Amino acid sequence: MFPSRYCTWAALLILVVLATIAMADQEEKHCDLVGDKATESKREQALLKKLEPLSAMSFEKNVSSNPEEKYTYRFKVCGEVSKSMPQSGLVQINLKDQKQTVVGRINETQVFNGSDWIMLIYKGGDSYGSHCHGEKRKAMIMISCNRKTLADGFTLLSEEREKEQDCLYLFEMDSKLACPPEDSHLSIGSILLIMFASLVAVYIIGGFLYQRLVVGAKGMEQFPHFTFWQDLGNLMADGCDFVCRSKPQNAPAAYRGVGDDQLGEESEERDDHLLPM
Ligand SMILES: *[C@@H]1O[C@H](CO)[C@@H](O)[C@H](O)[C@H]1NC(C)=O
Ligand SMILES: *[C@@H]1O[C@H](CO)[C@@H](O)[C@H](O)[C@H]1NC(C)=O
Ligand SMILES: *[C@@H]1O[C@H](CO)[C@@H](O)[C@H](O)[C@H]1NC(C)=O
Repeated sequence: MFPSRYCTWAALLILVVLATIAMADQEEKHCDLVGDKATESKREQALLKKLEPLSAMSFEKNVSSNPEEKYTYRFKVCGEVSKSMPQSGLVQINLKDQKQTVVGRINETQVFNGSDWIMLIYKGGDSYGSHCHGEKRKAMIMISCNRKTLADGFTLLSEEREKEQDCLYLFEMDSKLACPPEDSHLSIGSILLIMFASLVAVYIIGGFLYQRLVVGAKGMEQFPHFTFWQDLGNLMADGCDFVCRSKPQNAPAAYRGVGDDQLGEESEERDDHLLPM
């Protein structure tokens, strides 16, 4: 009867379902710390929150220790590198045979920080074969402070796999998120200066409005306490005259008379050394 209405309802329903699926998807892809939500470390949660701006990015680095072995490392901060590998946070791809190995998973995340670095650890990667007692691979990503970039310079530092256990892949990366908060450069002096300037501005603007609107002043008279400031200005000018001027203010005539004599003497003296010896 009302096909267009049914269409609208159907479209809405589909949209809601899609949105729900998308949200469920998103939920899955977060970093998961050790323990239940309630027992997770607050400190680690805060750090993951700090790293959130990076979660939309993915990083890639090609590494070849020798011509035979070429690997690509793909890395996401708290996101899956590839849907086909659940929880994969850091994946190694052998460029020769395209074999993919998960180095670390985001559902086994550990994170801690120092004053200007953050260490992100993904455990629970694919197991080693003969190396390292066949334990699970582990990726450690050291994020160093660099205020110039949000994220840059992702690279493999070393791969330790000739040990009995506790083998690891060590990566590093630069980001300003690892930087300590910049301390404000405002000293007490500049804060006082700013406060003083604000007070002056308030005084001038408020006074101006008052003189104009309430008193009804015109022209220069609109400035607050205009005559007072004018008097003060005159007073200061007088003071300057008194202190700094070299010529005596109240005897200009005498000065002129002296000046003529001195001019004559001076020019004679100056000419002296121009004469040939
Ligand atoms: C790494 O190598 C692959 C294959 O040669 C290439 O497609 C990719 O662009 C390279 N990535 C980087 C970051 O150089
Ligand atoms: C993490 O996810 C992988 C793959 O889904 C799973 O095998 C593993 O048991 C999970 N680890 C934890 C601690 O839940
Ligand atoms: C780790 O980061 C937090 C929050 O950014 C900071 O307060 C703390 O000082 C950092 N830890 C160290 C050891 O600097």
